[in-house]
Amino acid sequence: MQLRAAMQAALERLLEHDVPSANLAAELLLMHVLRRDRSYLYMHPEEELSADKFDRYMDLVSERCSGKPTQYITGHQEFWGLDFEVTPAVLIPRPETEHIIETVLDLIGRKGLSRQEKFRIVDVGTGSGCIPIALARELPQAELFATDISPEALEVATRNAQRLGVRDRIEFLESDLLARLLKPESYATFDFVVSNPPYVSHDEISDVQREVREFEPRLAWGDLARGEEIYERLFPQAWLLLKPGGCVVVEIGYNKKDAVLRLLVEGWQHQEVRPDLAGIPRVISACKED
Ligand SMILES: C[S@@+](CC[C@H](N)C(=O)[O-])C[C@H]1O[C@@H](n2cnc3c(N)ncnc32)[C@H](O)[C@@H]1O
Repeated sequence: MQLRAAMQAALERLLEHDVPSANLAAELLLMHVLRRDRSYLYMHPEEELSADKFDRYMDLVSERCSGKPTQYITGHQEFWGLDFEVTPAVLIPRPETEHIIETVLDLIGRKGLSRQEKFRIVDVGTGSGCIPIALARELPQAELFATDISPEALEVATRNAQRLGVRDRIEFLESDLLARLLKPESYATFDFVVSNPPYVSHDEISDVQREVREFEPRLAWGDLARGEEIYERLFPQAWLLLKPGGCVVVEIGYNKKDAVLRLLVEGWQHQEVRPDLAGIPRVISACKED
């Protein structure tokens, strides 16, 4: 069967199962089977796909129809223009989380600092390692730390750092939030504490997409009593580690802006909210008073 016909057959199956972004899934799964990029599919639509490869392709399409996210099938997701390995042990990096990277770079620019300075940065709940790895690539002299409570996630993050050439710049720590760094000698030594923590509450679980609920780790996205618990514990810890003028930069859920801003009052200044591309408040930053 020709590539074009195989992709059409896959698309029909995906649409029958109401798979969101069915076209993209059909392309990504075929790219994965062929180990080729997207342009290859469209430059060689008449190429013959062997029966073995077609069967393999349709097996993957069936997995996707069962609800498994495409990224867990292919094992890859792009973030900040970089290719990350993902497994079911980690949250699939989302495009809106890139606003954390943009916010850190903006704050550095607005403070009149150069990206070549030796910033000290910690990412809390690193998952695939997408945030500290992207920051390490943008800030060549930065010293980075990344914590996660999940040892399986840290294994994936460490492999990603190795593959993307920044393993020697990031220290990965199994830790409940910042607990492992909370030593007096580390107090007031960090320029940034960044995090995309779990923030979904029990009440919101039914609003969470089926793919997320059934396939992504609950520890990563939430199931919290209220949704603000992690921020409530994180900000006092971050305050201890930050230098005067150092900043927290966190992702928030679509309805968490007011609750999170209420936690950043005394001892904090320059609170800012950055919306995502859909206009939803997505990243909050605040800096320790200096
Ligand atoms: C929303 S995911 C974010 C992953 C990654 N930073 C990203 O943006 O794609 C939250 C991460 O926090 C981790 N986590 C949950 N509770 C934690 C805790 N108490 N301390 C440290 N990490 C935690 C989870 O294992 C998960 O990897």
